[in-house]
Amino acid sequence: MKNKADESGFRIAVAGKGGVGKTTLIALLAELLTSSGYQVLAADEDPQMNLAVSLGVPIEEAEKIIPLSHNKGYIQEKTGAKPGSGRGGLLRLNPNVDDVVERFGFRLKPNLSLLAMGSVDQAAAGCLCPENNLLKAVMRFIVLKPGELILVDTPAGPEHFGRGVLKGFSLLLVVTEPTLTALQVAQKSMVLARQLSIPHLKLVVNKVQGEEDRNRVKAFMKKSGFDSPATHFLPYTPDLLAIEPVVGPILAEGGKFTESVQELFYDVKMLIP
Ligand SMILES: Nc1ncnc2c1ncn2[C@@H]1O[C@H](COP(=O)(O)OP(=O)(O)OP(=O)(O)O)[C@@H](O)[C@H]1O
Ligand SMILES: [Mg+2]
Repeated sequence: MKNKADESGFRIAVAGKGGVGKTTLIALLAELLTSSGYQVLAADEDPQMNLAVSLGVPIEEAEKIIPLSHNKGYIQEKTGAKPGSGRGGLLRLNPNVDDVVERFGFRLKPNLSLLAMGSVDQAAAGCLCPENNLLKAVMRFIVLKPGELILVDTPAGPEHFGRGVLKGFSLLLVVTEPTLTALQVAQKSMVLARQLSIPHLKLVVNKVQGEEDRNRVKAFMKKSGFDSPATHFLPYTPDLLAIEPVVGPILAEGGKFTESVQELFYDVKMLIP
């Protein structure tokens, strides 16, 4: 992957309340996009780092992965400032992150790499500290060739928007369940995404158990003025629980869930230049 200090390429992220299916969706899209020949960098911004295991990295291997936010040497090398040093020092605002995937990417297949980003403390959200600066630079300044994509899994809740790592993203999939609290987080995420001028937004209502759930979502949206440009519904499926933690094999099973994910995938693919 070629990098330079400029935003480019097609970048996809998920957002939403805890447990709604963000990691599952990113892992499934990574499977489908790589199977269609795209070169995918899957970046995990969630400190829980579930994405590796969902993509098929054995748990004992995944536990050895050190996230970038904990890689003190690399942070200092690239930003000129010591991690934990706050604002001061020689902080370079646009560190060159050319080598990040080669040095720290975990290659799962020839066209799929994983980068564990880690996260910065909530207390440090929005700070100009070196850790945050590096994560932002990696997300924004990796230059992608045609056919290359970044897929980012994010921590639960809308707080990460404040750190600005999703600035310059092309598509945000706001994932929700058909519950009031999840829909409220989704609504907030959609507003924040608009403030970041993310051009393509989709609402993905996951774990839908029937017409009643769909109607509840539609009623909430109408009542609260939740404006979503496109809404996808993915059915609840116990099969996912049965195959945990690796999610890819569900795609071979067929059925309603797989079909709905495929439809979403085709919609996503249409947006990729
Ligand atoms: N459509 C679905 N039907 C049934 N179970 C699902 C569905 N989608 C996801 N799940 C299950 O819900 C749980 C949470 O999914 P997942 O880890 O993808 O959510 P998340 O949003 O990434 O959570 P977190 O916020 O903790 O990172 C998992 O056990 C997953 O298998
Ligand atoms: Mg997750």
